[in-house]
Amino acid sequence: MKRIPESEELMDEADQTLAYAEADFSASNNLFIELFETLYSGEFDGEALDLGCGPADIPIRFARRYPQARIDALDGAQAMLDLAQTAINTSGLEQRIQLHCQYLPATDLKKQYHALLSNSLLHHLHDPLDLWRTISNSARPGATVLVMDLLRPESPQQVDALVREYASDAPDVLRRDFEASLYAAYTLNEIQAQLAAADLQGLEVSHVSDRHLAVQGRLG
Ligand SMILES: C[S@@+](CC[C@H](N)C(=O)[O-])C[C@H]1O[C@@H](n2cnc3c(N)ncnc32)[C@H](O)[C@@H]1O
Repeated sequence: MKRIPESEELMDEADQTLAYAEADFSASNNLFIELFETLYSGEFDGEALDLGCGPADIPIRFARRYPQARIDALDGAQAMLDLAQTAINTSGLEQRIQLHCQYLPATDLKKQYHALLSNSLLHHLHDPLDLWRTISNSARPGATVLVMDLLRPESPQQVDALVREYASDAPDVLRRDFEASLYAAYTLNEIQAQLAAADLQGLEVSHVSDRHLAVQGRLG
């Protein structure tokens, strides 16, 4: 099925950000943390960067799981970051999670991060190399990378089935977002080509649920 890009990269409309922040993404966000646990095998105590952090549920889960981790979380939408800051303050994690309003590609980051994280950002990007180059520019040698996203289904019928299964009770704005995201998502082959174009070695892409893929590994 042909890819249909998202009309807007950033999520900065009030109704959209609030509906997103209030939605329950615990199944996929738990999966993200479980994948990192398997990949990293040990207690992570370094600096992590979360790209396209949205309302910060992933950085909060990551900070709770790894109490020594320090996390920079970046998003280009200030409306999302306002909700993220409230969630971080409520969790009492404001000393360990710092938010940054920044649009990808971010070219001024230091090569300081031991872990590069991103969930559900890649399909928003009109140029996916914006994500891979930002990772390449900000990772220390040997850094752990985990990027999870939706996988584009093979047909509109499969899109409809996933929307029925996972978003039938969701508010309209979220159901429309989920459907648009499935059409905008990349395939495993497309991502392999992106990694080759960005010259990122050491990463593998695989199916990790009926609707998600993950790119994971250690950079050389
Ligand atoms: C679907 S949300 C995912 C949020 C979060 N990672 C999660 O798992 O819930 C995608 C986020 O990426 C942000 N985003 C999209 N394109 C971006 C860009 N080029 N630079 C920075 N942030 C971007 C959006 O504003 C939005 O908050």
